[in-house]
Amino acid sequence: MSTDDMKKRAAEAALAYVEDNTVLGVGTGSTANYFIDALARIKSRLDGVVSSSEATTQRLKAAGIPVLNLNAVGPLPLYVDGADEANARLQLIKGGGGALTREKIVAAASELFVCIADESKLVDTLGGFPLPVEVIPMARSHVGRELHKRGGQPVFRENFVTDNGNIILDVYNLHILEPAKLEAELNNIAGIVTVGLFALRPADIVLLGTKNGVQTLRC
Ligand code: A5P
Repeated sequence: MSTDDMKKRAAEAALAYVEDNTVLGVGTGSTANYFIDALARIKSRLDGVVSSSEATTQRLKAAGIPVLNLNAVGPLPLYVDGADEANARLQLIKGGGGALTREKIVAAASELFVCIADESKLVDTLGGFPLPVEVIPMARSHVGRELHKRGGQPVFRENFVTDNGNIILDVYNLHILEPAKLEAELNNIAGIVTVGLFALRPADIVLLGTKNGVQTLRC
């Protein structure tokens, strides 16, 4: 079974968490795209979706699913999104697609965060995947130095501008033993908009697509 098949399995399983006549949040990336494809089949039962990126907005609109402004709706009952890495405590690294800031906002505004991923995303320790950090352009060098001091190797993501007009530094060589502590610390560096660690607000459920079916992880 291919990785894409496992992503699709996880995405299909997330449909079970969607309640009729509600607005839900939808993430960004290839696994989230499979979820959008699945959502399209039940779109008549939805009030709408809050999107986490311009790319997701385009895909939702192409599928005929209404896209709503987060400010126009209350707290969301559900957010469904992929991840680049997940640990057993359901803490995540996200932002491989560069949509981490809006993803973190929608996750924060949601009561239940269901993460969908293929089995390769489950790791013992976060940090094998370079940690994406969204940075205000003028702070690039300053933030780079601060990340160096903490043992990371920041690499400027070439030819990429986020939906918010900022840059991404991908930070290599981090062995993240205390994700929530590191997230809080990096959040305090001037110039950092968003850290791609989702540890202070982890997922509530991870649906892991595997060769043998879908595994449900909860804390
Ligand atoms: C987008 O910015 C990311 O947070 C994605 O959720 C993450 O990169 C997972 O992407 P895939 O589903 O494509 O693996």
